[in-house]
Amino acid sequence: MADLLKLGVLISGNGSNLQSIIDNIEKGFLKAIIKIVISNNPNAYGITRATKHGIPVVILKNGDFKNKEDFDSELIKILKNNSVDLVILAGFMRILTSPFLKAFSQKIMNIHPALLPSFPGIHGQKQALEYGVKISGCTVHFVDEGVDTGPIIIQSAVQVFDDDTEETLSARILKEEHRIYPQAIQFYAEGKMEIKGRKIRIKN
Ligand code: GRF
Repeated sequence: MADLLKLGVLISGNGSNLQSIIDNIEKGFLKAIIKIVISNNPNAYGITRATKHGIPVVILKNGDFKNKEDFDSELIKILKNNSVDLVILAGFMRILTSPFLKAFSQKIMNIHPALLPSFPGIHGQKQALEYGVKISGCTVHFVDEGVDTGPIIIQSAVQVFDDDTEETLSARILKEEHRIYPQAIQFYAEGKMEIKGRKIRIKN
């Protein structure tokens, strides 16, 4: 059997995307292993999810580090010690520094709850509602130096209804997140991605 893709998953909160990755691994769809989950929030529910499935967790509190560089250098150390091939940002509420991006160049994925390049940054769903779009969705992309600007891997659209609230729209988008994030990781695991500049083609 080919080697499993080694993942490091970074979280700050609920961890439902982490859960969908765990479930897809356990179902045998995703040929990967989560080597480590790292949370910068000691109260993140995602920690409980990981622990329930026997996945090692490290908690790094923002306040325990002098600056962002020190935090990120500890992150790099932990991920490298765990031989992580691909870093998965799953609701990780921190901007990563350049040394981190260089250490894992084109090896960091993120999921964003809007159809990029529209509505980057925080509260993508609220931004979409306030703008009045009729369609929104989610985007899996590689992480580069900008905020939600990296090459797009997969997107999925959902309808926006007149009576949507931030909660109802977020729930509809989240369902799609749980479908496309494991799919994107599996494409990577299978070596199906052809990356040219900011364009990504999925080979058959
Ligand atoms: C998701 O909406 C994701 O798109 C965004 O943060 C949220 C994380 O949710 N980056 P969860 O912690 O995976 O449930």
